[in-house]
Amino acid sequence: MSLLKIVHYPEPVLLTPGEPVTKFDDGLKKLVEDMFETMYAARGVGLAAPQVGVSQRLFVMDCSGGQDPAQRIALINPEVIGVEGEQVDEEGCLSFPGIYFNVRRDLRAIVRAHDVNGELFELDGTELTARCMLHETDHCDGIVFIDKTTTLKRELVKRKIRKLQKAGEWV
Ligand code: NI
Repeated sequence: MSLLKIVHYPEPVLLTPGEPVTKFDDGLKKLVEDMFETMYAARGVGLAAPQVGVSQRLFVMDCSGGQDPAQRIALINPEVIGVEGEQVDEEGCLSFPGIYFNVRRDLRAIVRAHDVNGELFELDGTELTARCMLHETDHCDGIVFIDKTTTLKRELVKRKIRKLQKAGEWV
């Protein structure tokens, strides 16, 4: 396994919808294993392929932070097929280091995806699991979490990033 480089906003790959995965081969399994290792090393609970510069529709997640093997899940070609309710909570993103703000999301989400072997399954989750699935599925569609807030908040975050870029603290 190897650690992958996590790209930061505004890398174009983060803002481009990923291509559907069509080959469930050893290359895909290696990418998924590397993404898990990279996510755990960065102490994240989710990581999508565009965040490691791969413009494909897949992500890995583990809302237990490595504590519960049952929560270590890879979702390939995810599709949100049902949502319910509402939640507002603080969110972060490995492609926006140090930036956190409240995001309104559905409280429950049902996502249909393939596993690494190409088998279809559905994941039904609430709270953090739903939030993570929705955030990561957005990444697969070229959407980042600042797109999910108000225009005002989005401009404040962009301004902060530009300041950090000028100071050489955001690459
Ligand atoms: Ni993210």
